[in-house]
Amino acid sequence: MQTAGNTAFVQPAHPGGLLLGESTAMHNVFRLIERVAPTDVGVLLTGESGSGKELAAQAIHQYSPRRASPFIAINCGAIPAGLIEAELFGYEKGSFTGAVRAHAGVFERARGGTLLLDEVTEMPLDMQTRLLRVLETRKLYRVGASVELSTDVRVIAATNRCPMQAAQTGHLREDLLYRLAVFPIDLPPLRERDEDVVLLAEHFLVQLNAQAHARKRFSAFAHMQLKQHAWPGNVRELKNCIERAFILTDDVLELAPMLHNGAAASQIGSRTAGAREHLEIRVGSRIHDMERSLIEATLDYFQGNKRRAADALGCSLKTLYNKLNGYSQNHECANN
Ligand SMILES: Nc1ncnc2c1ncn2[C@@H]1O[C@H](COP(=O)(O)OP(=O)(O)OP(=O)(O)O)[C@@H](O)[C@H]1O
Ligand SMILES: [Mg+2]
Repeated sequence: MQTAGNTAFVQPAHPGGLLLGESTAMHNVFRLIERVAPTDVGVLLTGESGSGKELAAQAIHQYSPRRASPFIAINCGAIPAGLIEAELFGYEKGSFTGAVRAHAGVFERARGGTLLLDEVTEMPLDMQTRLLRVLETRKLYRVGASVELSTDVRVIAATNRCPMQAAQTGHLREDLLYRLAVFPIDLPPLRERDEDVVLLAEHFLVQLNAQAHARKRFSAFAHMQLKQHAWPGNVRELKNCIERAFILTDDVLELAPMLHNGAAASQIGSRTAGAREHLEIRVGSRIHDMERSLIEATLDYFQGNKRRAADALGCSLKTLYNKLNGYSQNHECANN
Protein backbone atom coordinates (compact mmCIF):
# COMPACT_ATOMS: atom_id res chain seq x y z
CA MET A 1 0.00 0.00 0.00
CA GLN A 2 1.32 3.43 -0.83
CA THR A 3 0.42 6.92 0.11
CA ALA A 4 1.61 9.64 -2.21
CA GLY A 5 3.26 12.69 -0.73
CA ASN A 6 0.84 15.56 -0.47
CA THR A 7 3.21 18.44 -0.80
CA ALA A 8 2.25 19.29 -4.39
CA PHE A 9 -0.73 21.61 -4.11
CA VAL A 10 -0.08 23.10 -7.51
CA GLN A 11 -1.55 21.26 -10.47
CA PRO A 12 1.27 19.64 -12.44
CA ALA A 13 1.94 21.19 -15.84
CA HIS A 14 1.47 17.86 -17.54
CA PRO A 15 -1.56 15.60 -16.98
CA GLY A 16 0.57 12.46 -17.31
CA GLY A 17 2.70 13.37 -14.30
CA LEU A 18 5.52 10.85 -14.15
CA LEU A 19 4.01 8.88 -17.00
CA LEU A 20 6.22 9.54 -20.01
CA GLY A 21 5.54 8.98 -23.68
CA GLU A 22 5.69 10.62 -27.07
CA SER A 23 3.63 8.09 -28.99
CA THR A 24 0.17 8.90 -30.29
CA ALA A 25 -1.18 6.16 -28.02
CA MET A 26 0.28 7.82 -24.91
CA HIS A 27 -0.84 11.28 -26.03
CA ASN A 28 -4.32 9.84 -26.15
CA VAL A 29 -3.91 8.56 -22.59
CA PHE A 30 -2.73 12.01 -21.42
CA ARG A 31 -5.74 13.62 -23.10
CA LEU A 32 -8.11 11.23 -21.30
CA ILE A 33 -6.39 11.87 -17.95
CA GLU A 34 -6.63 15.62 -18.50
CA ARG A 35 -10.38 15.37 -19.19
CA VAL A 36 -11.30 12.97 -16.41
CA ALA A 37 -8.99 14.11 -13.59
CA PRO A 38 -11.00 17.23 -12.59
CA THR A 39 -14.21 15.18 -12.29
CA ASP A 40 -15.12 12.73 -9.55
CA VAL A 41 -15.96 9.99 -12.00
CA GLY A 42 -14.73 6.42 -11.47
CA VAL A 43 -11.94 5.31 -13.77
CA LEU A 44 -11.07 1.77 -14.79
CA LEU A 45 -7.45 1.38 -15.84
CA THR A 46 -6.69 -1.64 -17.98
CA GLY A 47 -3.45 -2.78 -19.54
CA GLU A 48 -0.86 -5.50 -19.32
CA SER A 49 1.33 -5.91 -16.28
CA GLY A 50 4.01 -3.22 -16.13
CA SER A 51 2.29 -0.90 -18.60
CA GLY A 52 1.91 1.97 -16.13
CA LYS A 53 -1.55 1.60 -14.56
CA GLU A 54 -0.46 2.60 -11.08
CA LEU A 55 1.47 5.58 -12.40
CA ALA A 56 -1.61 6.60 -14.40
CA ALA A 57 -3.75 6.42 -11.24
CA GLN A 58 -1.26 8.66 -9.45
CA ALA A 59 -1.29 11.06 -12.40
CA ILE A 60 -5.11 11.31 -12.26
CA HIS A 61 -4.93 12.03 -8.54
CA GLN A 62 -2.19 14.64 -8.94
CA TYR A 63 -4.08 16.38 -11.73
CA SER A 64 -7.35 16.43 -9.76
CA PRO A 65 -8.61 18.87 -7.13
CA ARG A 66 -8.04 16.05 -4.64
CA ARG A 67 -4.26 16.23 -4.98
CA ALA A 68 -3.75 17.72 -1.50
CA SER A 69 -5.44 14.70 0.12
CA PRO A 70 -4.09 11.14 0.30
CA PHE A 71 -3.64 8.75 -2.60
CA ILE A 72 -3.87 5.18 -1.35
CA ALA A 73 -3.31 2.09 -3.47
CA ILE A 74 -4.49 -1.30 -2.28
CA ASN A 75 -3.86 -4.59 -4.05
CA CYS A 76 -7.07 -6.61 -3.81
CA GLY A 77 -5.28 -9.78 -4.94
CA ALA A 78 -2.75 -9.60 -2.12
CA ILE A 79 -5.15 -9.43 0.81
CA PRO A 80 -6.52 -12.69 2.23
CA ALA A 81 -10.30 -12.96 1.67
CA GLY A 82 -11.03 -12.87 5.40
CA LEU A 83 -9.23 -9.55 5.91
CA ILE A 84 -10.33 -7.53 2.93
CA GLU A 85 -13.50 -6.07 4.46
CA ALA A 86 -11.55 -4.82 7.49
CA GLU A 87 -8.83 -3.44 5.24
CA LEU A 88 -11.33 -1.57 3.06
CA PHE A 89 -13.84 -0.40 5.63
CA GLY A 90 -12.02 -0.66 8.97
CA TYR A 91 -13.28 -2.28 12.17
CA GLU A 92 -14.36 -1.47 15.68
CA LYS A 93 -12.52 -2.61 18.79
CA GLY A 94 -13.57 -6.14 19.79
CA SER A 95 -15.34 -6.86 16.48
CA PHE A 96 -13.24 -10.02 16.03
CA THR A 97 -10.44 -11.84 17.85
CA GLY A 98 -7.37 -9.66 17.63
CA ALA A 99 -9.24 -6.39 17.07
CA VAL A 100 -7.75 -4.84 20.19
CA ARG A 101 -8.35 -1.32 18.98
CA ALA A 102 -10.53 0.37 16.36
CA HIS A 103 -8.98 0.71 12.92
CA ALA A 104 -9.85 2.99 10.01
CA GLY A 105 -9.99 1.28 6.62
CA VAL A 106 -8.59 2.69 3.39
CA PHE A 107 -11.92 4.31 2.50
CA GLU A 108 -11.63 6.42 5.64
CA ARG A 109 -7.90 7.04 5.39
CA ALA A 110 -8.18 8.24 1.80
CA ARG A 111 -10.90 10.73 2.77
CA GLY A 112 -10.95 13.64 0.36
CA GLY A 113 -8.43 11.86 -1.86
CA THR A 114 -8.19 8.93 -4.24
CA LEU A 115 -8.29 5.20 -3.67
CA LEU A 116 -6.78 2.82 -6.21
CA LEU A 117 -8.29 -0.67 -6.08
CA ASP A 118 -5.61 -2.61 -7.91
CA GLU A 119 -6.37 -6.08 -9.29
CA VAL A 120 -10.02 -5.45 -8.52
CA THR A 121 -11.10 -8.67 -10.26
CA GLU A 122 -9.34 -10.66 -7.52
CA MET A 123 -11.73 -9.36 -4.86
CA PRO A 124 -14.14 -12.04 -3.57
CA LEU A 125 -17.61 -11.67 -5.11
CA ASP A 126 -19.39 -11.04 -1.79
CA MET A 127 -16.96 -8.17 -1.13
CA GLN A 128 -17.66 -6.81 -4.60
CA THR A 129 -21.34 -6.62 -3.61
CA ARG A 130 -20.45 -4.66 -0.47
CA LEU A 131 -18.10 -2.41 -2.40
CA LEU A 132 -20.80 -1.62 -4.92
CA ARG A 133 -23.14 -0.62 -2.13
CA VAL A 134 -20.53 1.74 -0.67
CA LEU A 135 -19.85 3.27 -4.06
CA GLU A 136 -23.55 3.83 -4.64
CA THR A 137 -24.54 5.14 -1.22
CA ARG A 138 -21.19 6.75 -0.31
CA LYS A 139 -21.78 5.29 3.15
CA LEU A 140 -20.09 2.42 4.97
CA TYR A 141 -20.08 0.49 8.21
CA ARG A 142 -16.81 -0.46 9.85
CA VAL A 143 -16.79 -4.19 10.68
CA GLY A 144 -18.68 -4.56 13.97
CA ALA A 145 -20.06 -1.02 13.89
CA SER A 146 -23.68 0.04 14.09
CA VAL A 147 -23.09 3.62 13.01
CA GLU A 148 -22.84 4.43 9.32
CA LEU A 149 -19.99 6.66 8.15
CA SER A 150 -20.04 8.78 5.03
CA THR A 151 -17.20 8.54 2.54
CA ASP A 152 -15.61 11.05 0.24
CA VAL A 153 -13.22 9.14 -1.99
CA ARG A 154 -12.63 8.98 -5.69
CA VAL A 155 -12.23 5.35 -6.65
CA ILE A 156 -9.97 4.21 -9.45
CA ALA A 157 -9.82 0.52 -10.26
CA ALA A 158 -7.16 -1.33 -12.20
CA THR A 159 -6.84 -4.77 -13.70
CA ASN A 160 -4.63 -6.55 -16.18
CA ARG A 161 -7.48 -8.87 -17.10
CA CYS A 162 -9.97 -7.98 -19.83
CA PRO A 163 -12.81 -6.60 -17.67
CA MET A 164 -15.61 -7.86 -19.95
CA GLN A 165 -14.10 -11.34 -19.91
CA ALA A 166 -13.67 -11.14 -16.13
CA ALA A 167 -17.39 -10.35 -15.88
CA GLN A 168 -18.28 -13.21 -18.23
CA THR A 169 -16.17 -15.71 -16.29
CA GLY A 170 -17.63 -14.62 -12.97
CA HIS A 171 -14.54 -12.84 -11.60
CA LEU A 172 -16.13 -9.42 -11.65
CA ARG A 173 -19.74 -8.54 -10.92
CA GLU A 174 -21.24 -6.95 -13.98
CA ASP A 175 -22.99 -4.21 -12.01
CA LEU A 176 -19.70 -3.34 -10.30
CA LEU A 177 -17.94 -3.32 -13.67
CA TYR A 178 -20.38 -0.73 -15.02
CA ARG A 179 -20.09 1.31 -11.84
CA LEU A 180 -16.27 1.32 -11.90
CA ALA A 181 -15.85 1.69 -15.62
CA VAL A 182 -17.68 4.93 -16.17
CA PHE A 183 -14.45 6.10 -17.76
CA PRO A 184 -12.13 3.35 -19.00
CA ILE A 185 -8.51 4.11 -19.88
CA ASP A 186 -6.39 1.44 -21.53
CA LEU A 187 -2.62 1.67 -21.12
CA PRO A 188 -1.15 0.45 -24.41
CA PRO A 189 1.58 -2.21 -24.25
CA LEU A 190 5.08 -0.98 -24.96
CA ARG A 191 5.34 -3.13 -28.10
CA GLU A 192 2.62 -0.94 -29.67
CA ARG A 193 4.52 2.28 -29.02
CA ASP A 194 8.02 1.84 -30.37
CA GLU A 195 8.54 5.62 -30.28
CA ASP A 196 8.51 5.51 -26.47
CA VAL A 197 11.14 2.85 -25.91
CA VAL A 198 14.29 4.92 -26.36
CA LEU A 199 12.74 7.90 -24.59
CA LEU A 200 11.92 5.76 -21.55
CA ALA A 201 15.28 3.98 -21.64
CA GLU A 202 17.13 7.32 -21.70
CA HIS A 203 14.92 8.58 -18.87
CA PHE A 204 15.75 5.58 -16.68
CA LEU A 205 19.45 5.94 -17.54
CA VAL A 206 19.40 9.63 -16.52
CA GLN A 207 17.85 8.62 -13.18
CA LEU A 208 20.46 5.90 -12.61
CA ASN A 209 23.32 8.21 -13.59
CA ALA A 210 22.03 10.85 -11.17
CA GLN A 211 21.76 8.35 -8.31
CA ALA A 212 25.23 6.92 -8.93
CA HIS A 213 26.91 10.20 -9.97
CA ALA A 214 27.86 8.44 -13.19
CA ARG A 215 27.86 9.36 -16.88
CA LYS A 216 27.09 6.09 -18.57
CA ARG A 217 25.47 6.01 -21.99
CA PHE A 218 23.99 3.58 -24.49
CA SER A 219 25.93 2.28 -27.47
CA ALA A 220 24.31 2.76 -30.89
CA PHE A 221 23.84 -1.01 -30.97
CA ALA A 222 22.02 -0.90 -27.64
CA HIS A 223 19.60 1.66 -29.09
CA MET A 224 18.91 -0.70 -31.96
CA GLN A 225 18.37 -3.60 -29.58
CA LEU A 226 16.00 -1.55 -27.49
CA LYS A 227 13.83 -0.95 -30.53
CA GLN A 228 13.94 -4.56 -31.67
CA HIS A 229 12.98 -6.24 -28.42
CA ALA A 230 9.29 -7.12 -27.92
CA TRP A 231 9.11 -6.00 -24.24
CA PRO A 232 6.56 -8.56 -23.06
CA GLY A 233 7.02 -7.20 -19.53
CA ASN A 234 6.36 -3.66 -20.75
CA VAL A 235 7.91 -0.63 -19.05
CA ARG A 236 8.76 -2.59 -15.91
CA GLU A 237 10.83 -5.03 -17.99
CA LEU A 238 12.55 -2.15 -19.78
CA LYS A 239 13.35 -0.41 -16.50
CA ASN A 240 14.76 -3.60 -14.94
CA CYS A 241 16.76 -4.32 -18.07
CA ILE A 242 18.39 -0.87 -18.02
CA GLU A 243 19.15 -1.27 -14.34
CA ARG A 244 20.88 -4.61 -14.90
CA ALA A 245 22.87 -3.22 -17.84
CA PHE A 246 23.83 -0.20 -15.72
CA ILE A 247 25.22 -2.43 -12.99
CA LEU A 248 27.03 -4.71 -15.41
CA THR A 249 28.78 -2.11 -17.55
CA ASP A 250 31.17 0.69 -16.68
CA ASP A 251 30.77 3.23 -19.42
CA VAL A 252 28.89 2.27 -22.57
CA LEU A 253 25.80 0.18 -21.90
CA GLU A 254 25.38 -3.00 -23.93
CA LEU A 255 22.10 -4.84 -23.65
CA ALA A 256 23.13 -8.10 -25.31
CA PRO A 257 23.53 -10.08 -22.08
CA MET A 258 20.05 -9.01 -20.99
CA LEU A 259 18.20 -9.60 -24.22
CA HIS A 260 20.07 -12.46 -25.95
CA ASN A 261 19.43 -11.08 -29.40
CA GLY A 262 16.38 -9.01 -30.21
CA ALA A 263 14.73 -11.46 -32.57
CA ALA A 264 15.11 -14.48 -30.33
CA ALA A 265 13.88 -12.59 -27.30
CA SER A 266 10.83 -11.34 -29.19
CA GLN A 267 9.91 -14.87 -30.16
CA ILE A 268 10.22 -16.08 -26.63
CA GLY A 269 7.58 -13.49 -25.82
CA SER A 270 6.91 -13.64 -22.13
CA ARG A 271 10.09 -14.87 -20.64
CA THR A 272 12.97 -13.03 -19.05
CA ALA A 273 16.20 -13.26 -20.92
CA GLY A 274 18.66 -14.93 -18.62
CA ALA A 275 15.98 -16.49 -16.42
CA ARG A 276 16.54 -20.16 -15.67
CA GLU A 277 14.35 -22.67 -17.46
CA HIS A 278 15.25 -25.60 -15.23
CA LEU A 279 15.54 -26.15 -11.53
CA GLU A 280 17.83 -28.67 -9.97
CA ILE A 281 16.39 -30.17 -6.82
CA ARG A 282 18.31 -32.50 -4.54
CA VAL A 283 16.67 -35.77 -3.59
CA GLY A 284 15.67 -35.45 0.04
CA SER A 285 14.84 -31.73 -0.15
CA ARG A 286 11.95 -30.58 2.01
CA ILE A 287 8.72 -30.24 0.04
CA HIS A 288 8.29 -26.73 1.42
CA ASP A 289 11.76 -25.68 0.19
CA MET A 290 11.17 -27.29 -3.19
CA GLU A 291 7.87 -25.47 -3.60
CA ARG A 292 9.45 -22.17 -2.63
CA SER A 293 12.32 -22.62 -5.11
CA LEU A 294 9.85 -23.51 -7.85
CA ILE A 295 7.69 -20.46 -7.12
CA GLU A 296 10.68 -18.12 -7.02
CA ALA A 297 12.17 -19.51 -10.21
CA THR A 298 8.81 -19.27 -11.99
CA LEU A 299 8.38 -15.67 -10.89
CA ASP A 300 11.88 -14.93 -12.08
CA TYR A 301 11.12 -16.58 -15.40
CA PHE A 302 8.05 -14.41 -15.90
CA GLN A 303 9.82 -11.27 -14.72
CA GLY A 304 7.84 -10.95 -11.53
CA ASN A 305 4.50 -11.12 -13.36
CA LYS A 306 2.45 -12.88 -10.69
CA ARG A 307 -0.52 -13.64 -12.89
CA ARG A 308 1.59 -15.43 -15.51
CA ALA A 309 3.50 -17.24 -12.78
CA ALA A 310 0.25 -18.33 -11.08
CA ASP A 311 -1.15 -19.54 -14.41
CA ALA A 312 2.01 -21.52 -15.13
CA LEU A 313 2.05 -22.99 -11.62
CA GLY A 314 -1.62 -23.91 -11.90
CA CYS A 315 -2.69 -22.02 -8.78
CA SER A 316 -4.79 -18.92 -8.17
CA LEU A 317 -3.19 -15.52 -7.89
CA LYS A 318 -4.39 -15.35 -4.30
CA THR A 319 -2.67 -18.65 -3.43
CA LEU A 320 0.53 -17.30 -4.93
CA TYR A 321 0.27 -14.10 -2.88
CA ASN A 322 -0.48 -16.09 0.28
CA LYS A 323 2.59 -18.25 -0.26
CA LEU A 324 4.82 -15.23 -0.93
CA ASN A 325 3.45 -13.48 2.16
CA GLY A 326 4.22 -16.63 4.13
CA TYR A 327 7.81 -16.64 2.90
CA SER A 328 8.37 -13.00 3.79
CA GLN A 329 6.86 -13.55 7.25
CA ASN A 330 9.10 -16.60 7.80
CA HIS A 331 12.00 -14.47 6.71
CA GLU A 332 11.07 -11.73 9.18
CA CYS A 333 10.72 -14.35 11.96
CA ALA A 334 14.09 -15.82 11.05
CA ASN A 335 15.64 -12.36 11.31
CA ASN A 336 14.14 -11.66 14.72
N1 LIG B 1 4.98 5.75 -19.19
C1 LIG B 1 5.85 5.54 -18.19
N2 LIG B 1 6.81 6.47 -17.93
C2 LIG B 1 7.70 6.27 -16.93
N3 LIG B 1 7.73 5.18 -16.14
C3 LIG B 1 6.80 4.24 -16.36
C4 LIG B 1 5.81 4.38 -17.38
N4 LIG B 1 5.01 3.29 -17.36
C5 LIG B 1 5.46 2.52 -16.37
N5 LIG B 1 6.53 3.06 -15.76
C6 LIG B 1 7.33 2.46 -14.67
O1 LIG B 1 7.26 1.05 -14.90
C7 LIG B 1 7.02 0.34 -13.68
C8 LIG B 1 5.68 -0.39 -13.78
O2 LIG B 1 4.62 0.57 -13.82
P1 LIG B 1 3.26 0.38 -12.99
O3 LIG B 1 3.54 -0.21 -11.63
O4 LIG B 1 2.50 1.65 -13.03
O5 LIG B 1 2.58 -0.75 -13.91
P2 LIG B 1 1.23 -1.56 -13.69
O6 LIG B 1 0.49 -1.50 -14.99
O7 LIG B 1 0.51 -1.06 -12.47
O8 LIG B 1 1.76 -3.04 -13.46
P3 LIG B 1 1.04 -4.28 -12.69
O9 LIG B 1 -0.16 -4.67 -13.52
O10 LIG B 1 2.08 -5.35 -12.70
O11 LIG B 1 0.66 -3.81 -11.33
C9 LIG B 1 7.06 1.38 -12.58
O12 LIG B 1 8.39 1.43 -12.09
C10 LIG B 1 6.70 2.68 -13.29
O13 LIG B 1 7.26 3.77 -12.62
MG1 LIG C 1 -0.04 -2.06 -10.66
